[in-house]
Amino acid sequence: MILETIVTTQSRSGLAHIAPMGVHAIADGFLVLPFRPSTTLDNLLATHTAVINYCDDVRVFAGCLTGRRDWPLRPAEKMTGQVLAAALAHTEVELVRVEEDAVRPKLFCKPVHNVNHKAFTGFNRAQFSVLEAAILVSRLSMLPWPKVETELAYLHIGFDKTAGVREREAWGWLMETVEKFKAEKTHG
Ligand SMILES: Cc1cc2nc3c(=O)[nH]c(=O)nc-3n(C[C@H](O)[C@H](O)[C@H](O)COP(=O)(O)O)c2cc1C
Repeated sequence: MILETIVTTQSRSGLAHIAPMGVHAIADGFLVLPFRPSTTLDNLLATHTAVINYCDDVRVFAGCLTGRRDWPLRPAEKMTGQVLAAALAHTEVELVRVEEDAVRPKLFCKPVHNVNHKAFTGFNRAQFSVLEAAILVSRLSMLPWPKVETELAYLHIGFDKTAGVREREAWGWLMETVEKFKAEKTHG
């Protein structure tokens, strides 16, 4: 199963980095698969630690893809690292094995410490729509434009029926980026 999470890492000099990552839940831990080039990859290889944050504030996902990476953090509990303040729960992990790949290396991580912060309050369709739209935004230059438009129109249906304030703000940031991309495509 793939979990859509926010992975926090830090460089050897202590500079924190936040990135949405689809993390594979495997028998004895997690598999993180960053596409090269990736700061998350560089940091994990340098420090061998990361925090996997479970977060229902989709603004963090949309924000990271639209130049808003400055989300409040607090220190991890059992290792040197940073926890996303908005996380409902987090797992502190250690890198145990790397399978090298020119495109997408496999980083096998083992859990060291799990913490619950807040209750999960149920599924929301607009959160799903924002996550899917964020993935589309991360692939704008690779996807055929009609596919992007069709998928966004479909995602907007569930979004519009169920979104709250956080989801609307996140959707707005993503659509700004889509519109900018469209204008650049049209006007060269
Ligand atoms: C829900 C979601 C899941 C993502 N999963 C991955 C992933 O598994 N691997 C990856 O390289 N990028 C993934 N991305 C895109 C990255 O978050 C984005 O490209 C980011 O900048 C990664 O590079 P970085 O490590 O340099 O920050 C995902 C984006 C979203 C919105």
